[in-house]
Amino acid sequence: LASIEVDLSPIAEGQAITVTWRGKPVFVRHRTAAEIELARKTDLNSLIDPQPDTDRVKEGHEQWLIAIGICTHLGCVPMGQKSTDPRGDYGGWFCPCHGSHYDTAGRIRKGPAPLNLALPDYAFLDDTRIRIG
Ligand code: FES
Repeated sequence: LASIEVDLSPIAEGQAITVTWRGKPVFVRHRTAAEIELARKTDLNSLIDPQPDTDRVKEGHEQWLIAIGICTHLGCVPMGQKSTDPRGDYGGWFCPCHGSHYDTAGRIRKGPAPLNLALPDYAFLDDTRIRIG
């Protein structure tokens, strides 16, 4: 499908789901206040692919991180969607293929991946529904 709608209401804080959009996994994560704070207080100079958290989420919906779940190194699907998964040194996702660590904004922090997790085009239809694509 060119675009899909996702109901966010069943996703509790701290949880995440993976949806498929145009054949790709898309991570939809309900960030905790601590995860948002961690992403926001990060020094941009310490980033491999510098991008503020505010450019990676929608204003007023900062708790939702929507990112394409494909490692920017060689395309594996990073782990971290379940709270019991390894999430790497920065609390976001960990790609077990070659050891890339992503933070709670999906930004690459350590390992061979060159870029942050890509962001799909999406919009909020209301507080609990998004359309991706
Ligand atoms: Fe993820 Fe290589 S594909 S680290």
